[in-house]
Amino acid sequence: MSQFNNVVRFIKRPDGKPTPDVFKIEKEQIRQLKPGEYLMRNAYLSMDPALVGRMRDEDNYVEKVNPGEVMQAYGIAQVIESNNPNVKVGSVRLGRIDMQQYSIFSDEEACKEINLGLASACSYLGAMGVNGSTAYFALKEICQPKAGETVLVSAGGSAVGSVAAQIAKNMGCKTVGIVSTDEKTKDIVRDYGFDAAVSYRGKSIDELTQDIKKVCPQGVDVYFDNTSGDISEAVLDTLNENARVAVVGRLGISHLADTKQDKGRRDHNIMLTKRVKKQGLVILDYQDRLRGAMIMLARWIKEGSIKGKEDIMHGIEQTPDAFFRMLAGQNQGKQLVKLADIDASVDPTPRWLGRLLISKWFPTEKLAKKITGGI
Ligand SMILES: NC(=O)c1ccc[n+]([C@@H]2O[C@H](COP(=O)([O-])OP(=O)(O)OC[C@H]3O[C@@H](n4cnc5c(N)ncnc54)[C@H](OP(=O)(O)O)[C@@H]3O)[C@@H](O)[C@H]2O)c1
Repeated sequence: MSQFNNVVRFIKRPDGKPTPDVFKIEKEQIRQLKPGEYLMRNAYLSMDPALVGRMRDEDNYVEKVNPGEVMQAYGIAQVIESNNPNVKVGSVRLGRIDMQQYSIFSDEEACKEINLGLASACSYLGAMGVNGSTAYFALKEICQPKAGETVLVSAGGSAVGSVAAQIAKNMGCKTVGIVSTDEKTKDIVRDYGFDAAVSYRGKSIDELTQDIKKVCPQGVDVYFDNTSGDISEAVLDTLNENARVAVVGRLGISHLADTKQDKGRRDHNIMLTKRVKKQGLVILDYQDRLRGAMIMLARWIKEGSIKGKEDIMHGIEQTPDAFFRMLAGQNQGKQLVKLADIDASVDPTPRWLGRLLISKWFPTEKLAKKITGGI
């Protein structure tokens, strides 16, 4: 094992949209483990848009990253040394391992053991894992789409957005995505089965509204909002009576130094006259029910009714580029960085159990419903 850990350090808060000078790559010594601790070799890092919010000094639903700290990131890692009796060497775990090659933890719950018989490591960071589950809960609990309704999804090509659209489509809805470019509109129709898609880049709010109206002639019943900002303002005049809006992300205001600077239409006339229901969702509130959604998603992925895509870059040095690539929308699928291989031969988790849970012989849906609380 290397004695050194290459880390991506967060060195200053961005003034507006993050720029590459917020990061610096440094090499540091890996320290000895204390009693109760375990050391992991990080295998994959996920480049999540929500990390932008953590760079800001403002109220958030999670702790912020402070200058001087290793940049936060979720990912998959494999235990290579353990002083914790509850953590087995070789086990593969998912958690906030941060942008670095090795991580040390003590709490076994902070980085949860995963079963690669259920889905691949990449899928755990994409369509099947927390992102897919966010789509699952926001759609099923807040949006509650009915067959025949029109479901509009901003950041339609994102991991969350693409899964939300595919679940809605499988429920009999018409799905429409909003993405940056015309090229991407074709991609999401082909890859995720959207019925239609519109691009937002270079358009005024009014122009985008008109384009959405053209592809949603019956209006929008469900708006799955991954962006907020101008894109969501453009959606306002397309909402039908009793529309449901799930506020899931803020990609469209990630260029602001402070989200309080977000300006938009303030009148609530549409909300009132059309009886629109709007609710935010934070997946952390669903910790206890997450496994149910993941099992169901894993089954759908195995059957082919939900598709995920990953875009993988390699090496810790590429991590800052991968992050900015995702923010520029240049990624084709969930942007990941691969740091190391996972050694399947030492993983003690029974993969056959994962495979059984999603096999056609197993009452997967019943189990998933029980864990998710009936949805
Ligand atoms: N509430 C929760 O608990 C929770 C949990 C997970 C994720 N989320 C949110 O879900 C959303 C999607 O996350 P993800 O991980 O699925 O994303 P992702 O797969 O990493 O997708 C990133 C895509 O977002 C789009 N994008 C980037 N900057 C944008 C901008 N300024 N305006 C509009 N679109 C932009 C780009 O596509 P285009 O080229 O099409 O613009 C990019 O390809 C994010 O807002 C994230 O914060 C919320």
